[in-house]
Amino acid sequence: MNEHKSHLIWYPDHDLLLGDIVRAENCYLYDSRGKRYVDLESGVWCTSIGHSNKRILRTIAEQSSRIMHNGFNYSNELVEEAARGILSLLGLDGGRCVFLCSGSEAVEFGVRVAQSVIKQPLLMTMTDSYCGAYGSASRKQKDEWFCFDWMTCATCPYEEECREHCQHWADIPYENIGGFLFEPGSSSGLVRFPPEKLIRNIAALIRKNGGLVLVNEVTTGIGRTGLWFGHQHYGISPDIVALGKSIGNGYPVSVTAFAPGVIEQLGEKPLKYAQSHQNDPLGAAIALEVMAVIKDEGLIERSKGIASLLLSGLTGISERTGLIKEIRSRGLMVAIEFKDDSETSFTIRVHRELVHRGYILGRRPGVNVLRLDPSLTIDREDVGDFLEAFMAVLIQTDG
Ligand SMILES: Cc1ncc(COP(=O)(O)O)c(C=O)c1O
Repeated sequence: MNEHKSHLIWYPDHDLLLGDIVRAENCYLYDSRGKRYVDLESGVWCTSIGHSNKRILRTIAEQSSRIMHNGFNYSNELVEEAARGILSLLGLDGGRCVFLCSGSEAVEFGVRVAQSVIKQPLLMTMTDSYCGAYGSASRKQKDEWFCFDWMTCATCPYEEECREHCQHWADIPYENIGGFLFEPGSSSGLVRFPPEKLIRNIAALIRKNGGLVLVNEVTTGIGRTGLWFGHQHYGISPDIVALGKSIGNGYPVSVTAFAPGVIEQLGEKPLKYAQSHQNDPLGAAIALEVMAVIKDEGLIERSKGIASLLLSGLTGISERTGLIKEIRSRGLMVAIEFKDDSETSFTIRVHRELVHRGYILGRRPGVNVLRLDPSLTIDREDVGDFLEAFMAVLIQTDG
C-alpha cells in the first residue's frame, strides 16, 4: 500500500506493509491475492475471540434484523441484560453501565463522572498510561491530573508499605487527589506492569481519603492477561471500570461500569452526556455474546496454555540469540524488547521481514519493542510456526 496514493488519513510514521486485506477468519487475514497472514496483534488488540467469529456474526445478523439502534432514552431488555452481565463479571452487582463506542469514550465518561463527585481537584494516573485519543485523561493537564512516574518502584527494595521509607512516595500530593485512574499494564506500545504492592498501597490510600479507584481495562480486560480483568492481578476492587476493544471483538462498542456507591454519590445529578449510539442494542448484544463465547468455550483457561507455550518459546529464543533485552508478558499481552538498538533499525527490519513471511506483530515507531496480543483462540501450531519463523528472522537480520 502506498501511503501517498491513499485518500485516507493515516496515523503518521507507521509502516503500511500489508496488501489489500479482504477477508479474515480467526487469526488469519487474507489479501486480495490470497496471501495469508497470521494476525498476532488481533487488529488493535480487539479480536480476542478471533476475526469473523461465527457466533458473533450470527448475533450481528439476528440482532440487526430485529433492532440495531434506537434513541438513548428508550429501554431495551437485552441492553439491560448485557449491563447486568458486565456488572456481575466485574463484581459490581447493583451498579450501572453505559454502552458507548470507543475505549477513549469509555475512559472519558468514567473520568467525567469521577470529576463530578470527588471533592479534591486532582485525579492521579501513571506517566506511561495511555488513556485514549481525546479528553481530560489524554491531555493530563496539571490542573486536573497528577502523573506518577513509577519506574523506580519497579525495582523497589521494600517489602510492603510504601510510605514509611520512600521520598518518591511521600511526594504524592494525596490531600489533593480524589481518584486514581489505573491501567493494569501499560498499552502505550511498551507493555509494562506496575508492581502489585505499589498499586494496592496507592488504592488503599486513595480510598482512605474518600477517593475513587478507576480502572482502564480497555486493553487488559476480557481475558487479555489470563484473567477476566487486568486489575484482578492486583487484588483491588474498582469503583469505575472502562472496557473497550475485546468487548466488541472488532465491533465498536465500549462500556463504562460504575459501582453502586458511585451511583449513590451521583444521586439526583447524573452526568449529562448524550451520544447517538449510547446503549444501542446491537453493541450490547455483541458484548453479551462475546462474554458468553469466552465462558462457554473456556477461552481464558485455554489462553493460559497458549501464553506459556509462547513465553517459553520466546525465552528459549532469547537465550539462544542473545538479541533480546527483555520479554514482558501477562497472559496473551506480550512485548519483546530488543537490546541496544537506539535507532530502532533492527526492530524495523525484523518487523518487516516477519510481515513478509506472513506474521503480523505490533510495532510502535521510535521504540525497539515488538508486541503480540493474539486472539485467545489462536492455534498452538500457529504459535509454534511463528516461533520458528521468529528465530530464523532474528538470525538472518543479525547476520
Ligand atoms: C489502555 C487504553 N485505553 C484507551 C484506549 C483508547 O481506545 P480507543 O482507541 O478504542 O478509543 C486504548 C487504545 O489503544 C488503550 O489501549
